[in-house]
Amino acid sequence: MRALTVQPGTAGPARIDDLPDPVAGDHELLVEGLALGVCGTDREIVAGGYGWAPPGRDRLILGHESLGRVRQAPSGSAFTAGDLVVGVVRRPDPVPCGACAHGEFDMCRNGRYTERGIKQLDGYAAELWTVETDYAVSLDSRLADVGMLMEPTTVVAKAWEQIDRIGARAWNEPKTVLVTGAGPIGLLAALLGVQRGLDVHLLDRVTDGPKVGAVAALGATYHHDPVTDVAGKLRPDIVIEATGAGSVVFDAIANTGTYGITCLTGVSTAGRTITIDAGADNRQLVLENDVVVGSVNANLRHYQLAAQALAQADLGWLHQLITRRIPLERFADALTARPDDIKVVLTLTDQGR
Ligand code: BGC
Repeated sequence: MRALTVQPGTAGPARIDDLPDPVAGDHELLVEGLALGVCGTDREIVAGGYGWAPPGRDRLILGHESLGRVRQAPSGSAFTAGDLVVGVVRRPDPVPCGACAHGEFDMCRNGRYTERGIKQLDGYAAELWTVETDYAVSLDSRLADVGMLMEPTTVVAKAWEQIDRIGARAWNEPKTVLVTGAGPIGLLAALLGVQRGLDVHLLDRVTDGPKVGAVAALGATYHHDPVTDVAGKLRPDIVIEATGAGSVVFDAIANTGTYGITCLTGVSTAGRTITIDAGADNRQLVLENDVVVGSVNANLRHYQLAAQALAQADLGWLHQLITRRIPLERFADALTARPDDIKVVLTLTDQGR
């Protein structure tokens, strides 16, 4: 089978390797890879800035935003051949820490968790892959063309869960949410906000193109003015930050409403410094009972929440998020970001195209 591999830690090029077909273990599915979503993390791994190969190896099969069709399932399992599935990204650490022992591996405390396609476990950018039945999630068959949006949806399902839990510490009736960054994470976060009946605003730099169209189609409001202007006027109850850009992050935090919750989801690069008024920011956080929370990854509970959110979403709108579908052999195109991209997808078989 063909698989897209990288050498983590070096900026060497990704390449297609011909590897032996994987063999499913007793409690595993054998899955035909249909498509794979590409995200900033993949590009960072290819650039040598992130990622770890499996122990004793140099190369890693890339890919964590999976979509496949079950070819073979253990008898007695909840899966049958033909099912549409995605594989979970993270696995608990081997100790395990308390969080991992409780199934909350997305909150791993000792950092020894592993991640398919990112950290020490091969990913899903392959024509065939295996996955433990406990870490496979079935998708509604109507999602056959868009199901690779599941993993980023799990990330925002977790972010929303964190926001709900933090909001529940006192009386709370949030009305306005500002999402910064209209990439896949921002747009999917906005989708879940609309599904909750909130007044949803999205902010990005672009002034036209598919992002603006997707926001309008969602019934949310698009802004491209500076964060201080937009958030300063809206005073949002909730901010979901999906750019990872330092100035956007701190301007958003400084402009939430009272009892504001800012959830940070953008994984930024170290070494970019800005000047902030730490006194003013601290004073406001304290006097307004504001909260800033980081959120990464997702556990099985969030996969269920994400599957529900996608099942309720308008299929045409989900299609709008996929702006390029590139066959595996042209992976270099997919790994090169373009300004108008929302989600770029690598197709692994003819069915995935
Ligand atoms: C993935 C997460 C993962 C994180 C850090 C993100 O791109 O969506 O599942 O935990 O990278 O490795």
